[in-house]
Amino acid sequence: MVELRENEQKTLLALEKLRGRGSVDRVVEVSGLAHAAVMRAALSLTTRNLIKIHERKQTIIALNREGRYHARKGLPERRLINSLTKLGGEASVEDVVEEATLEKKFLTIALGWLHRKGWATIRKKKRVLKSLKEPPTGTDEKLLSLLDEKDPLIVEDLSKELQKAVSVLKRRRLVEIDEKTLRELELTDAGWELIKRGIETVEEVSQLSPKLIRTGKWQKVKLRRFDVTAPGPIVYPGKIHPAQQIIQRVRDIFLEMGFTEIRGPIVETAFWNFDALFQPQDHPAREMMDTFYLAHPRKGRLPTKDIVNAVAKTHENGWITGSRGWEYTWSPDEAKRLMLRTHTTAVTIRYLAEHKEPPVKVFSVDRIYRNEKVDYKHLAELHQIEGIIMDKNVTLRDLIGTLKEFYLKLGLKKVQFWPGYFPYTEPSAESVVYVPELKTWMELCGMGIFRPEVLAPLGIKYPVLAWGGGLERLIMLKLGVEDIRHLYKNDLGWIRRSPICQ
Ligand code: PHE
Repeated sequence: MVELRENEQKTLLALEKLRGRGSVDRVVEVSGLAHAAVMRAALSLTTRNLIKIHERKQTIIALNREGRYHARKGLPERRLINSLTKLGGEASVEDVVEEATLEKKFLTIALGWLHRKGWATIRKKKRVLKSLKEPPTGTDEKLLSLLDEKDPLIVEDLSKELQKAVSVLKRRRLVEIDEKTLRELELTDAGWELIKRGIETVEEVSQLSPKLIRTGKWQKVKLRRFDVTAPGPIVYPGKIHPAQQIIQRVRDIFLEMGFTEIRGPIVETAFWNFDALFQPQDHPAREMMDTFYLAHPRKGRLPTKDIVNAVAKTHENGWITGSRGWEYTWSPDEAKRLMLRTHTTAVTIRYLAEHKEPPVKVFSVDRIYRNEKVDYKHLAELHQIEGIIMDKNVTLRDLIGTLKEFYLKLGLKKVQFWPGYFPYTEPSAESVVYVPELKTWMELCGMGIFRPEVLAPLGIKYPVLAWGGGLERLIMLKLGVEDIRHLYKNDLGWIRRSPICQ
């Protein structure tokens, strides 16, 4: 004995009324069930071989606004040729346009098609149009007027000739094309047999209500079974962008490790982005090619005189730091230039200038800007992560240990530290992680201990461990994305497919 649910019975009976076969829409009409209910019933009936589902692709074509306009007024080239004929077959473009009252925006298109369709020639210099032949009504025009009478139309039902015009109108962007899957249900022999044996519909209850319980009716009604393995409709819930999820994870890791988040301005003076970090004013990274400078306003304000003078002297001769400095004349004007920060170290150093007492354990995850030509590896707007620790006796060992733990929390186990160079740290290193999927080592963060030339002008007396680097690489690594542009393309398909939790 086959046990059928109410909706399945209703679907079968509707199909019987439709003489064994009908589209889902018809079954919906006849059975009085909702579309989703019919689809669900149909799926379980097919698994029991009582019905078959036939799928057919259907292409639907309908006019868009411009298409509708041309369908009513005639294609622009038709309007021109009609007017040209009226004017005796030869006339200047201006006259023909005026006669046709053709809108300016359609002129180039109209002339192009006049030529392509061989309806007229245009003599370039004098801009004179001359008609060539009696232009017959093209299939594109036939399809247009058919659509004007009655749309949407099903492309598969059109004549071969008209089907060819579909792509023409599509390329001219006069129509919207939509693909649909048409589903038809058909009773199988087993389905017919079951119906002949007779099926009754028994009412089923899908929700146990307080009333059913109070009245005791729940004992008599037939409760509907749920098939939790049945396929449900696909839903695309709102979710956090995959890149943003990783940013959030990095943030959580820093917080777990006892760091506090700091933020700073995106528009920064060269002073905090470069000078305070002991980058000489002729450093190549400062050039326009690498840095976005602001045109309006061009300059910002420098901090207090003490700090500015100390930075100036350190650049010029090393000041009290024991260094010889860069040995050039430091320019306050250059330092005032406004720019989009090129690294989050600008945020760090700004913060340090106001927090000189240990311990300091802060981080930032934020946007930075570099004047890069955008390609699969480069973006002009990207993210950096950065962390610092300032405390009385911290050393390079602490920095290495901290980074190892940081990476471990990100799931990156194999880490090495290679020598590196930054104008503001000594010693400096690059931390590289092994990526098993790619079988290579990848540089992730630069690191080091801030130089006295950076710390002394700000009055900082304790060692500062710092590391920072690009976040996008890490995101690409985690998401398996090979083209960096993909992260911010808003490719809905990709966003939908990526899991809610990374
Ligand atoms: N600011 C460096 C960069 O942009 C990274 C870095 C941060 C290096 C802190 C050392 C210390 O690549």
